[in-house]
Amino acid sequence: MKPVLILNGPNLNLLGLREPGVYGSTTLEDIEAELRLLAQELKIELQFFQSNTEGHLIDKLHEARTSCAGVVFNPGAYTHTSVALRDAISSIAPVPVVEVHLSNVYARPDTFRHKSLLAPVCAGQIAGFGPASYMLGLRAVLAIAKDN
Ligand code: DQA
Repeated sequence: MKPVLILNGPNLNLLGLREPGVYGSTTLEDIEAELRLLAQELKIELQFFQSNTEGHLIDKLHEARTSCAGVVFNPGAYTHTSVALRDAISSIAPVPVVEVHLSNVYARPDTFRHKSLLAPVCAGQIAGFGPASYMLGLRAVLAIAKDN
């Protein structure tokens, strides 16, 4: 199977430091280490990429069209704003993208977080389980990824 891309959008490089009351004290490096262990167990390869820049995330999704079996994507705030990322996800079909969030965006007081522009073109969404959202996202994408 081709590798699975673990893609992280803006401000997720500051996990552990950023709003720990909302996002917890686990860093992105900690999450990536846990994903590496799970990948070993599942005998699959992972690629990791984080960017604060929309265009770089779009370029990485385009690369995944031919090089990856699936994508686990935490788009951060772009979830709620980005038509360009939505089009990029649509453009790489049938490569499945699973949208993940640490927080339960639907339970947050900011109502702008209750809408995802990306979820309708993703295979599915996992939100609210903290770092475990990524592990669940990896298992979810593997359940539907093509084995070639
Ligand atoms: C987030 C939720 C988004 O609303 C927010 O902008 C983030 C993090 C999450 O993982 O819970 O940056 O994607």
